[in-house]
Amino acid sequence: MDRIRLRGGRPLKGTIPIGGAKNAALPLMAAALLTDGPLVLTNAPALDDTRTMARLLEQHGLSVEHDLGARTMTLAGAATNLVAPYDLVRKMRASVLVLGPLLARFGEAKVSLPGGCAIGTRPVDLHLKGLEQMGAQIELDSGYMTARASGGLKGAKVYFTQVSVGATENLLMAATLADGMSELVNAAREPEIDDLAHCLIAMGAKIEGIGTDRLRVEGVKTLHGATHAIVPDRIEAGTFACAAGITGGEVLLQGARLEHLGTVARVLREAGVEVDEAPDGVLVKRLSGLRGVDVMTEPFPGFATDMQAQFMALMAVADGASMITETIFENRFMHVPEMNRMGARINVHGSSAIVRGVSRLSGAPVMATDLRASVSLILAGLAAGGDTIVNRVYHLDRGYERLEAKLAAVGADIERIPG
Ligand code: EPZ
Repeated sequence: MDRIRLRGGRPLKGTIPIGGAKNAALPLMAAALLTDGPLVLTNAPALDDTRTMARLLEQHGLSVEHDLGARTMTLAGAATNLVAPYDLVRKMRASVLVLGPLLARFGEAKVSLPGGCAIGTRPVDLHLKGLEQMGAQIELDSGYMTARASGGLKGAKVYFTQVSVGATENLLMAATLADGMSELVNAAREPEIDDLAHCLIAMGAKIEGIGTDRLRVEGVKTLHGATHAIVPDRIEAGTFACAAGITGGEVLLQGARLEHLGTVARVLREAGVEVDEAPDGVLVKRLSGLRGVDVMTEPFPGFATDMQAQFMALMAVADGASMITETIFENRFMHVPEMNRMGARINVHGSSAIVRGVSRLSGAPVMATDLRASVSLILAGLAAGGDTIVNRVYHLDRGYERLEAKLAAVGADIERIPG
């Protein structure tokens, strides 16, 4: 297994290109199941998760070509196999996003239950309840969800009892081909959902209320192919903003969109990191000391849970204390013991962590446990004296493209050690 070695203490300076958003690319790829026509996705990131989704769609019968040079992915063809197998779904729970499109287009689907993951149990009950309200019959048997909608899905008013990104995406895709009107109430409002909605409209869908928590969809008979540019990755941008902040540097996040950082930009400013819109992205710099700031993770436009671990690394070397409360997932503090081994002073009490800033962290061998925890350890290593070795970096490769190359290009002393 590959490892990453880095030595901290250097302020990062220069430009980091921000790629297409992982959490937009995955539902957009699943949307290809809604039509035979070619769906062309530009600004397509090359990640382990997008490669897993490509394999899943190929075993359904689609062709998926990713031109890495042009950063363009072309998906075409009709699904001939309606089963999403356990060995692929267990690798990436976003595989469940094929359920809505398969059911809407073919009237049936058999998808492995995703199971939990490191950060939580992550059930799919909201996905299933919504599809049942649209007329699907769903049985759970031997670890699989078997869904049928013989006469096709019917438009329905679906009220989400809890904000769910994936459930909103699954139901939004299903509703585009349902018979009649659907309304998704208490829908998630992440920018990746707006991006999916815009792509579906380009494919011929009728959707209103984009950007709000109430999406209205008028079902159509068929959807056609389209070309769509994937929105830049706000979590990659936020991660590198923390890297600039933790090293006291100055970095242009090329292609990033300030409005997609939501509360993350405000909180970074409160912590002493300057975050400003630039002609071709977002400029981040830190000229003064870091201040401890309290945050609570919330659905967009609140502070993103996918930024919690990265912000904790920043707070670990701030002046003063910070309380960080994780309200979305039940086990998303696995980076804490590893950061404490680097000299951080973090105490977890239930869903909150108290971070008492220290003047400097010390490099150490650490273990990655999940995608965002692993990148938070890289950030801590950028602020630490001596060498940090991050093990099990396959977690990183799921959601960050060429991370060490992008950091090295702005001055970080970092290299990947093939394992
Ligand atoms: C998406 O996961 C993202 N993944 C996650 O990013 C992100 O952390 C999460 O949204 C929240 O923003 C992708 O987009 C591929 P949810 P998702 O449904 O859709 C509970 C990363 O690091 N819930 O919004 O799975 C669930 O357990 C990943 O890039 C139910 O109870 O998240 C969680 O506590 C990690 N029942 C909360 O809702 C359901 O049916 C939010 O989950 C669905 C969800």
